Amino acid sequence: MSTPPVNILFVGDIVGGIGRRALLALLPGIRERYEPTFIVVNGENAAGGIGITTKIARSLFAAGVDVITLGNHTYRHREVWGYLDSEQRILRPVNYLAAQPGHGSCVVERAGVRLGVISVSGNLFMNAGRPAFAEVDAAVSALRDSADQVLVDVHAEATSEKVGMGWHLDGRVTAVVGTHTHVPTADARVLPDGTAYITDVGMTGPRGGVIGVKREQALQSMITKMPVKFETSEEDPWLMGVLISATRPRRADSIEQLLLPAPNAIGP
Ligand SMILES: [Fe+2]
Ligand SMILES: [Fe+2]
Repeated sequence: MSTPPVNILFVGDIVGGIGRRALLALLPGIRERYEPTFIVVNGENAAGGIGITTKIARSLFAAGVDVITLGNHTYRHREVWGYLDSEQRILRPVNYLAAQPGHGSCVVERAGVRLGVISVSGNLFMNAGRPAFAEVDAAVSALRDSADQVLVDVHAEATSEKVGMGWHLDGRVTAVVGTHTHVPTADARVLPDGTAYITDVGMTGPRGGVIGVKREQALQSMITKMPVKFETSEEDPWLMGVLISATRPRRADSIEQLLLPAPNAIGP
């Protein structure tokens, strides 16, 4: 069985204005070279390094982003809570409590292909109200007839939990991509039953800090054990993402890591 070929660009956690500028600076070249059918980004750090606002989410959609996934910083900015309910294409983890604002999956369509996207949070060292594995099963089942390709963003701290999620979903979805640690891993591959997998995509933001934070401030906190105000680093921005290609329903042909410096992203 075949389906129109698609390329899915997934971009790791966009950190602050510098991360947003890195995405905007590099997107034209990425579009030209890889011709992504769909663009999905994790935006949980897009607003000043923590959370996202309605305005920033809208600006990402205006730049051509199809779906925004979030994570543990979803609710940092109270004004976005209503938008999470009303905008289908912005996702908080599906295994949060039903009473929490927003939803965890959506379907978008381009070029005759329906892409389902699911956001799920790990349970180890994370604050998700419901179990990741059971809830992701329910979300994948719910998309059975409504999506040709399915991408799962597993937002988790523990590498073991993300590896487990990859094996758990192998053969049932197009891709399982890890986010949250902001550090890219070197294990991108297509698993035996056809699911593209990577433990962590990395972040789109300043590599000169400590996972996005100015390094002097992060180090001061670690060394002194006293409260320190954190700001987003402005040093050495990179875009970190993956490109997944698929020609069969819910199976990937390849996954390629994109690690691109964005020197022209520095500035106001
Ligand atoms: Fe993040
Ligand atoms: Fe996170």
